[in-house]
Amino acid sequence: MSTEFTQFIGPLRNSSLTELLTFAFSLLLALGITKAIYNVFLHPLAPLPGPKLYAMSPIPISLSRAQGWVPYKFAELHEKYGPIVRVGPDEVSCAGPSDFKEVYGPRYGKGGPLTRDPRNAMSKDTFGVPSMFQADVQEHAKVRRQLNPAFSEKASREQEPLVMRYIDSMIEKLGDASARGESVDVEKYTMWATFDIQGDLVFGEDVFKCIEKEQWHPWIRISMTYFTSGVYMHALNDISPWALWIWQKFFTPKSIADAQSYHLRTTLELVDKRMAAGKTDHPDYMSFIASESKAGEMLTKEQMYANAQMLVTAGSETVATASATTLFLLLKNPDAMERAKQEIRSAFASAQDITATAVTQLPYLLAAIDESMRIWPPVATSFNPRAVTSGGCTVDGYFIPEGACIGIHNHVVGRSEEYFRNAKKFVPERWLGDERYVSDARELFQPFSSGPLNCIGLTMGRMETRVILAKLIYNFDVELMPESDNWLTNQKNYIAWHKPPLIVKLSPVRGA
Ligand code: HEM
Repeated sequence: MSTEFTQFIGPLRNSSLTELLTFAFSLLLALGITKAIYNVFLHPLAPLPGPKLYAMSPIPISLSRAQGWVPYKFAELHEKYGPIVRVGPDEVSCAGPSDFKEVYGPRYGKGGPLTRDPRNAMSKDTFGVPSMFQADVQEHAKVRRQLNPAFSEKASREQEPLVMRYIDSMIEKLGDASARGESVDVEKYTMWATFDIQGDLVFGEDVFKCIEKEQWHPWIRISMTYFTSGVYMHALNDISPWALWIWQKFFTPKSIADAQSYHLRTTLELVDKRMAAGKTDHPDYMSFIASESKAGEMLTKEQMYANAQMLVTAGSETVATASATTLFLLLKNPDAMERAKQEIRSAFASAQDITATAVTQLPYLLAAIDESMRIWPPVATSFNPRAVTSGGCTVDGYFIPEGACIGIHNHVVGRSEEYFRNAKKFVPERWLGDERYVSDARELFQPFSSGPLNCIGLTMGRMETRVILAKLIYNFDVELMPESDNWLTNQKNYIAWHKPPLIVKLSPVRGA
């Protein structure tokens, strides 16, 4: 031990516990104050607009995250401070006209695409390889190439009968409930159908049987809790990686640890079973990957473990949200519902004519879905903002240094009067050439994100949403029950929207 250090701690040796604690507390306070002053006045992000409190410490934005209010908070901050806001010491939110290209684009000649910020990635090491949400640029591009055959036009054509089977079963079960005179939570049925579809596409069989049994599968329930816990972890990690480590090590309740280990075990079993079968005649993702991968480029078992949960949840909860929200907004806007009804019911002679290709010929329904995703995007915030890499980048005229993270939040952009006239109103006509809306900034409508990390399931997501809504509206007159009248108001957001039951009464349409 050096003499200087011994001299420094010397007086402390004879101190009481209270004095030592007071000393430690004062030291931490002094460090905290110094850091806060640095963050506000000297940090490279100091010139950016935004509240000083948010620049000082990650606590304010972490609190909004933990309360499920973050989409509303971002919107409030942008309304006050403009298209670029510093929302945390190292975090920037932007909503400028060219930001999707600048931040999410391929950034040719500017150091390449930015990856998702690894500070937000949880449990990177569970499977020995990262999931796509956690991978660096090279690994992400590799896995994306390996997955591409499962998401091609050819694949979606061959997957259509599988998708239709689950949606038709959902319509049948809803018909049974309506025949019993029961009102139903239609949102739950859309979740069940979309989880059944993705479960089958990822694991090769009807693993969840939610629609068949009309009940949740525990794997799905646990998956959904990961969204919420992911947000809490993100908030804790922002405050201090130590706080997160301590929480995970010492405070994870046993019930949660047990659920996690069941979830992990089941994922491994399901992936092992599907990978062992190799290429089959079933049009699931693995069949396309196995038949089209070049030698030595096949997705490994570990990569599939790491991505299975992400593929199932990313592809189901989003579609269910888009479908239920569009239905709700049509129900709240009876003229729009009337137009959608007329369009759908006059286009088809029977329910079996409602195919993936046929629904592309329903302009009003397509406009209603886009309008719903503008007002209430299924992925409301950039839950995985991009990490700014070496050299930094310039956004909206501000230099963002390496080490910062930056995100674009669809909930902010879509509801901004700056970009969309009557932004909070549901007006499908704006997508159909209505001249009152010609100056809307359509290029900023990016519910599936943009650039090399955008949604790989865009075609499948659009197709499922269109078919679900077309079949629902073709088969039933839908009435919103009073208890769901304010269904959208105050939904909380933990990466996914926490949606209350959407209770409706369904009356079968005669002859459908
Ligand atoms: C209405 C439906 C959907 C919406 C609104 C949606 C939206 C999004 C968004 C905003 C992202 C984030 C991209 C980013 O970080 O920039 C994403 C990523 C992703 N989505 Fe979707 N999605 C939908 C349906 C689907 C479907 C059906 C699948 C099928 C499995 C899917 C699979 C994925 C995957 C795998 C990623 C990660 C892509 C990557 O990292 O390369 N999504 N989605």
